Amino acid sequence: MTETKIKKLYKAKIETIEQVSVSSYFIEMDFGIPITVKPGQFISVYCDGLTLRRPFSVYSNNNGKIGILFKQRGKGTEYIKSLKQGDLIDIMGPVGNGFDIRNKKSLLIGAGIGVAPISFLKEKLTDGIFFAGFLNKDEIIQGINADKIFTDDGSFGEKGSVITNLEQYIKYYRPEIIYACGPFIVLKTIAQLGIKYDIETQLAMEKVMACGIGVCRGCVIDVFKNGRIQNATVCKDGPVFKGSEVVWR
Ligand SMILES: Cc1cc2nc3c(=O)[nH]c(=O)nc-3n(C[C@H](O)[C@H](O)[C@H](O)COP(=O)(O)OP(=O)(O)OC[C@H]3O[C@@H](n4cnc5c(N)ncnc54)[C@H](O)[C@@H]3O)c2cc1C
Ligand code: FES
Repeated sequence: MTETKIKKLYKAKIETIEQVSVSSYFIEMDFGIPITVKPGQFISVYCDGLTLRRPFSVYSNNNGKIGILFKQRGKGTEYIKSLKQGDLIDIMGPVGNGFDIRNKKSLLIGAGIGVAPISFLKEKLTDGIFFAGFLNKDEIIQGINADKIFTDDGSFGEKGSVITNLEQYIKYYRPEIIYACGPFIVLKTIAQLGIKYDIETQLAMEKVMACGIGVCRGCVIDVFKNGRIQNATVCKDGPVFKGSEVVWR
């Protein structure tokens, strides 16, 4: 069997669907059997009438009930939002590598909907502080387990993005490892600070995906490994990469 084998397919039942911020929703699906998921792994959702599945990070896993957080963007997320309790949803996964969890003093950073895998990871760590950043107070995810909240406009918590004063926080808190998920510029900045202060960074990357299983090469990024630049697929080799290995363009 090759590494690109098709991962498990499930028909899960919608348990809960609720709005958790002005633009985001939480949906919990009952898989009917216990499912093992590593924080950072994602599921791919078949959205009625659309050819390509849509990927979402796992936000919670309670004994076979898997939750995701999603922001409504286009037809796929509009379809998911339209589902009702008891409807069936077609899922592939969980897929991807997930975070390599270390027993180290950790700083966790989630920006926007990137808080989803970071919140899930926080539950598994004993020594971690979680910074969550949102555009404004209306975008804050209800019930998020963050230790510190930032808003770009200062309408709640500390004013600025999660990276505005990050260098000062790193110097003060002195983490041994940083885990993060969020927009490209946030991840790139964290990777650069990790290199500057010799701190391991593990970053959950996002790329628009097609097959989601490492076949089409549509989600390739460049990484520096074994002394040379190589291709890596975000869907199968990632989505989590060491910040020091990514070629940031
Ligand atoms: C590994 C991975 C994990 C993800 N986890 C989550 C998650 O936990 N929650 C969540 O809400 N989203 C997540 N995403 C993004 C999610 O897959 C897209 O938002 C979704 O596919 C959009 O589908 P759509 O049909 O609604 O929108 P589309 O019709 O596909 O796109 C609508 C608009 O949104 C833009 N868009 C699409 N994808 C993204 C993106 N990733 N970032 C910015 N703009 C985009 C498109 O360019 C287009 O302008 C993840 C993506 C990846 C690759
Ligand atoms: S989406 Fe096809 S290889 Fe990643």
